Amino acid sequence: MRVLVLNGPNLNLLGTRKPEIYGTTTLADIEGMMRERAVELGIEMDFMQTNYEGELVEAIQKAKGKYQYLLLNAAAYTHTSVAIRDAIEAVELPAVEIHLSNIHAREEFRHHSLIAPVCVGQICGFGAKSYLLALQYVAEMEK
Ligand code: DQA
Repeated sequence: MRVLVLNGPNLNLLGTRKPEIYGTTTLADIEGMMRERAVELGIEMDFMQTNYEGELVEAIQKAKGKYQYLLLNAAAYTHTSVAIRDAIEAVELPAVEIHLSNIHAREEFRHHSLIAPVCVGQICGFGAKSYLLALQYVAEMEK
């Protein structure tokens, strides 16, 4: 089974960006932790980050036929992007929405996710572990 992990804008700054909210784990650390767990779970995983909305849309479109699941932290685009929402809906791949922080406990504008209705579920608030929980979900589904 192959999964695509997609990361949106500013997640390349993890480690130094608002550590009181996002922690000090870098995105490279998260990728490393996920790769380790993916090997244990027998999951093939690709991992990418981009600051550009259109690149996320293209990556989602190209995922069809290549991956069985999308694990997506769309970052700020979660709250704004109809294009990403429509792409997820169009490819009909099960997608898991991930956030490091608990978006529901933060500013009001983060409470609403445009992508939540087209995702199978949302994992938020567990820091870097949110990503590992998403991987765990995928592994459980494929048992
Ligand atoms: C985030 C939450 C978003 O509201 C924010 O814009 C991010 C990161 C998270 O992982 O907690 O960039 O997706």
